[in-house]
Amino acid sequence: MTDFSIENVSAQAPTTHAELLQWVADIAQMTQPDRIYWADGTQQEYDRLAGELVEAGTFRKLSDHEFPNSYVAFSDPDDVARVEERTFICSETEEGAGPTNNWRDPQEMKQTLTGLFTGSMRGRTMYVIPFVMGSVDATNPKFGVEITDSAYVVCSMRIMATIGTEVLDKMTATNAFFVKALHSVGAPLETGQQDVPWPCNPEKYIVQFPESREIWSFGSGYGGNALLGKKCYALRIASAIGRDEGWMAEHMLVLKVTNPEGKSKFMSAAFPSACGKTNFAMMDPTVEGWKTEMVGDDIAWIEFRDGKPFVVNPEAGLFGVAPGTGWSTNPNAMRAVAKGNTIFTNVALTDDNSVWWEGKTDEVPEHLIDWQGNDWTPESGRPAAHPNSRFCTPIAQADMLAEEYYAPDGVPLSAIIFGGRRKTTVPLVTEASSWEQGVFRGVTLSSETTAAAKGAVGVVRRDPMAMLPFIGYNAGDYIQHWIDLGKKHGEENMPKIYYVNWFRRTPDGGFAWPGFGENSRVVKWIFDRLEGTAGGEETFLGVVPGPGDLDVTGLDITEAELQAALAVNKDEWVQELPGMDEWLTALGNKLPAEMHAQRDALAENLAS
Ligand code: GDP
Ligand code: PGA
Ligand code: MN
Repeated sequence: MTDFSIENVSAQAPTTHAELLQWVADIAQMTQPDRIYWADGTQQEYDRLAGELVEAGTFRKLSDHEFPNSYVAFSDPDDVARVEERTFICSETEEGAGPTNNWRDPQEMKQTLTGLFTGSMRGRTMYVIPFVMGSVDATNPKFGVEITDSAYVVCSMRIMATIGTEVLDKMTATNAFFVKALHSVGAPLETGQQDVPWPCNPEKYIVQFPESREIWSFGSGYGGNALLGKKCYALRIASAIGRDEGWMAEHMLVLKVTNPEGKSKFMSAAFPSACGKTNFAMMDPTVEGWKTEMVGDDIAWIEFRDGKPFVVNPEAGLFGVAPGTGWSTNPNAMRAVAKGNTIFTNVALTDDNSVWWEGKTDEVPEHLIDWQGNDWTPESGRPAAHPNSRFCTPIAQADMLAEEYYAPDGVPLSAIIFGGRRKTTVPLVTEASSWEQGVFRGVTLSSETTAAAKGAVGVVRRDPMAMLPFIGYNAGDYIQHWIDLGKKHGEENMPKIYYVNWFRRTPDGGFAWPGFGENSRVVKWIFDRLEGTAGGEETFLGVVPGPGDLDVTGLDITEAELQAALAVNKDEWVQELPGMDEWLTALGNKLPAEMHAQRDALAENLAS
């Protein structure tokens, strides 16, 4: 079929949703694929597409002994991470995108993109993927449709979201609104032209149109750029919808915590990419009698009912950083991945046709094929897996998934935890004394950059609520939204806010805090603070655990390390202040007055 008239498209489509049919026909006419294929979301379809990807050289099927029904893909070496400098928020006005986003006039951007998308799917199949973020049984299901020319994207989207016939039928029956999410790898094939294993385009555009709730993504096949339900929809577009409708879309894991008496609470935590969300969401608690279960590992949608916050994880899969995820650090993730049905990207290949990455096992294999296809030995002096290599696994495979994950309208949220990667300054845990102080801590959240985005690694940058690359509108308005929600629902209804840092170093350079499962000790303190049963000391940053308040029974830590982890050091914060000021200025004139007041209160405390 190359006649993409609306009549012809409609005749062959499994839906009567008029707006969807028109959009599909319009996109097909522009991108000129060889055919249109509507994804049904079945296992047979997944297996068939995966087989085609093996044929094309994109996938390699792993042997079943370690990861059954699993595949590994190796990307183009220039297509390994999100590309923040190529990411745009094209709101109608420049102010709408604010000081932290790249902006282009939406009309101009549409024109540029139309040029790029014209004929971009030639020689390829155009896949139409109906999907829903969150439950299809939610009171207001959040539908989307991704059009893509990548079967890798179809397979990955089937893991990360609910896709296919059931979703399309509900969309059609209710004539539902859906987010239009268009993706092309930007590598058309001329007749007879041989495809490459990882088609992509050196020119990349990851573009969100917040008002019309559209996404256009061109040139990349990498997860965060191409699986449009994830960062593009569930964070950038959803944050703009949330602002309009009074809810929040946040870059947060969600954890269910149960104390020895059997009482449970839900907490969410916002850490920048590759700063420990998946590990925290999947930890094995080391404190006696405590249990943690995962609700989500990356994205949280928080809505309010009768003034109270409820949270859902809109995703169906884990898209985790492989390096550092191992049998000793994160056995729950390893067990989930080992059930199979996993797509690995840019890890290394073992001699027995399985995969390895730094940190997977303590023992390092003697020989590997690295992520770029070269022979590798421990003497090679470079990582075998790309630092941002990933596993993509169905969340349902996690044994410690909380049953409440499936609650269509979410679970009550008691605490929000902010955190980042800081070698110095930021103590292990603090509790904000008010909603506004907590918001201020979130606004000034800082972290050393990681390999999850293209660019330098290890540089301290400010990352408000870990949302810097994901706020779909003006950051000042976004912060105002947090303040407004606090005022609207009342401090007593809002989650309590905490701030953690697992990454502080001792003078000799090692981690002061052992992290991972030991983070449950911090979770216990937070839980007991919420219950009113844990002690703490007031400081200029809020409340911190005093001597004896943090349960360190059985923990292998020296007093010096513990002090290094917990210390609230005035001198360090005095040095921190200029960077914060610079950042508050950079946020522009829409920054709520409450934030300036918080800043002044901090400065005053530091001066006294
Ligand atoms: P996400 O991208 O935020 O989900 O981050 P991940 O959970 O995938 O972790 C990213 C990296 O941080 C991995 O290399 C982890 O091993 C490391 N990491 C996670 N939690 C901790 C921790 O508590 N302590 C230390 N030292 N490293 C951690
Ligand atoms: P993450 O997100 O880095 O926060 O895990 C995935 C991505 O978009 O790269
Ligand atoms: Mn993660």
